[in-house]
Amino acid sequence: MIKKRLLSGIKPTGNIHLGNYFGAMKQFLTLQDQYECFLFVADYHALNQIHDPRLLQTYRDEIIKAYLSIGLNHEKIIFFRQSDISALTELTWIFNCVTPMSLLLRAHAYKDAKAKNKAVNMGLFDYPVFMAADILLVQSDIVPVGRDQKQHVEIAQVIGKKFNNLFGNTFHIPEVRFQTSTQIVPGLDGRKMSKSYHNVIALFDSEKIIRKKIMSMKTDSKRSDEPKDPEACPVFAFHRLLEHHDIQELARRYENGTISYQESKEMLVDEMISFLAPIWKKKAYWDNHPREIEQILQRGSDRVQTIAHETVLNVRKKIGISV
Ligand code: ADP
Ligand code: TRP
Repeated sequence: MIKKRLLSGIKPTGNIHLGNYFGAMKQFLTLQDQYECFLFVADYHALNQIHDPRLLQTYRDEIIKAYLSIGLNHEKIIFFRQSDISALTELTWIFNCVTPMSLLLRAHAYKDAKAKNKAVNMGLFDYPVFMAADILLVQSDIVPVGRDQKQHVEIAQVIGKKFNNLFGNTFHIPEVRFQTSTQIVPGLDGRKMSKSYHNVIALFDSEKIIRKKIMSMKTDSKRSDEPKDPEACPVFAFHRLLEHHDIQELARRYENGTISYQESKEMLVDEMISFLAPIWKKKAYWDNHPREIEQILQRGSDRVQTIAHETVLNVRKKIGISV
């Protein structure tokens, strides 16, 4: 049976954290068996934010290693770097020429940046068009994304349909797929975990840093023998996220006043480290095998180039710039 095609990407604009892991990456452990999966690092997308070459490269390499270290299988998944596929920038230009500016003026990322008086470069403004090229170039059936990316996939659908209407049926219009089971992962301060709030536990933080971050999490000042509300405690939220072995018993101890915040944090440090240790072990392997990573990416990019070549030839013919 031919598997449906799935495509998703992550922008390398910071260290990968538990919010990214639970919210965006973990789902591929199951999806990799159900779909023909294409996963990529959106490094050209990150360029509209990051203008430090070393940093861009560091974040980009980290995403690839994170994908490979969480248990995704490079025999099943096609991994690639966005910047390796030059057809994507070509297609972006072609899409630019059929995309009304009014569509991009409504995009949340642009509107947010403007509302916050941030400097908006053309890359940020044009971001949804590039994303449409990512999605439509490989003719994907399904695009799993977090809620924040829904509008971008809808813009890709509009652009694909518009092209098809103008030039005849060319692009397959994919579905958006939400990560249904995804809860919002809390940060160290109880708000959503996000690099912009500086409240993250990074996937590759050291044991020492993790201990320090957890032990200095803010709680209220209730003494160890006072009843506490587990639902109001950010430490408890992490126990739940990591599937503490008896969460109900732990909640009871909070309510009875038979656990101190200190003890709860110490338990959490142990849970966090046992959860991350197998991922770190695989990461250490990949740190020592950069050539193997390059081969995986080369294979991925060869596969995408083959599909891209066919799509681009067809597109050029349709628009009247045939070779
Ligand atoms: P950040 O908020 O740190 O800038 P990104 O926007 O780079 O994170 O996140 C990339 C993807 O990771 C998002 O599209 C979303 O699916 C997922 N994600 C990020 N933070 C969280 C979170 N706290 N909870 C759930 N999912 C998250
Ligand atoms: N914009 C996405 C993010 O910020 C990353 C991304 C780029 C993407 N191109 C994509 C996701 C295509 C899905 C499909 O996380």
